[in-house]
Amino acid sequence: MSAWVFNYVARFISIASDMHVRMRLRSSNLIGWETLNMSRNILITGASSGFGRDTAETLARAGHRVFASMRDIAGRNRPHADALEARGLHVIEVDVTDDASVERGVASVLENTGRLDVLINNAGIGSAGVSEAFTTKQVQALFDVNVFGIQRMLRATLPTFRKQGDGLIVNIGSILGRVTFPFFGLYGASKFAIEALTDSYRYELSTLGIDVVLVQPSKYPTNIFASAQRPADAARAPGYGEAGAIPDKMVETLMALFASDHAPNPHDVADAIVQLVEQANGTRPARLVVGQSFGADALNTQATSIQARALESLGLAYLSETKRRSAAA
Ligand SMILES: NC(=O)c1ccc[n+]([C@@H]2O[C@H](COP(=O)([O-])OP(=O)(O)OC[C@H]3O[C@@H](n4cnc5c(N)ncnc54)[C@H](OP(=O)(O)O)[C@@H]3O)[C@@H](O)[C@H]2O)c1
Repeated sequence: MSAWVFNYVARFISIASDMHVRMRLRSSNLIGWETLNMSRNILITGASSGFGRDTAETLARAGHRVFASMRDIAGRNRPHADALEARGLHVIEVDVTDDASVERGVASVLENTGRLDVLINNAGIGSAGVSEAFTTKQVQALFDVNVFGIQRMLRATLPTFRKQGDGLIVNIGSILGRVTFPFFGLYGASKFAIEALTDSYRYELSTLGIDVVLVQPSKYPTNIFASAQRPADAARAPGYGEAGAIPDKMVETLMALFASDHAPNPHDVADAIVQLVEQANGTRPARLVVGQSFGADALNTQATSIQARALESLGLAYLSETKRRSAAA
């Protein structure tokens, strides 16, 4: 493999140390927020592993009532469901690619509580490889989870949030929804889609007291890389010559990093979400990068002022701020 490929991969894996990440979390607007110290009813998707599982458990430990949803509870996710139930969480079946499953899952939460305070759209799948080598069906499956899954969850829960005039939606995007890494571009496209989706919902719901926040994690050791889609039409990759070998090398190098002492700590994401949940509506940031930014935070800053000007020119500047709940509410 040539020197430029090695340089490329080496740059890709250069990471901030855990200490650096924690300093960023502390120095970002995560501190000094107005917090709400009350128990909330929280529904989270994709809670069988990774950020979802950790966030569900962390929120429950913080005193919140957590409905940890996952698919296939009767099958391969049974041990995960049992473990969460043993810790006092409510486990419900939700496959975010299935309208009926989403509606049943949300209905079962509302039957149980009558109220929903927070929805965390976490379920997601990865993809890594030469973009051309993925079939259209694979890309549809990717968007079905990462994008349409969120739309399904929002359609099922928003009538409740709107009736309450209160609520928080946290969508899990990615820094790859702002910055493009070659060979991760189809996954990135699904996360770019969530950027616009989240902004649009945030503006549209702002007058109703419902907050919508996008969390943009960097790369962390979870199951997402091992379970990521790989190209079904691998015969296309050789046509890319040396470049066709980069995706495997990138994944391999990431796995080595994750197995090392320098691996970033995925718990950063759960901590960030708990802090968001405990803030008052109207005081949260619209976006939050967690981990090494690769410039996503700079793009966020630029987009904030460009978006504000766009809304102003439409005469809709007042949709930029989520209405704060009155103290009496
Ligand atoms: N790890 C990272 O570096 C990173 C970085 C940026 C963003 N993210 C995002 O973080 C979120 C969580 O991913 P993770 O890193 O924690 O990976 P993970 O450990 O693989 O977790 C993904 C979760 O999504 C669930 N899921 C997949 N398809 C589903 C479906 N159809 N219905 C319901 N649940 C489904 C998985 O359930 P099963 O166990 O049943 O498959 C799993 O619980 C994703 O949105 C991902 O894109 C991750």
